[in-house]
Amino acid sequence: MADVSVKINDNGPYVISGDVTIVDVEGKKLSWTGSAVALCRCGESTNKPFCDGTHNKAGFSSEVRG
Ligand code: FES
Repeated sequence: MADVSVKINDNGPYVISGDVTIVDVEGKKLSWTGSAVALCRCGESTNKPFCDGTHNKAGFSSEVRG
């Protein structure tokens, strides 16, 4: 089994570590540098699906609102 972890950052992205392949809607493999990749969950990144740090400027909150 692959050793992959997904860290859910407070008010930030999902950070995936390990041997993982990410593909776009057409099945094209996406590439990145480093041993981990941060995926946007705020919807504001200009480099989706990757996080570009815009969540900070956008004031993204991961707080669940009922
Ligand atoms: S979570 Fe970082 S830009 Fe969206």
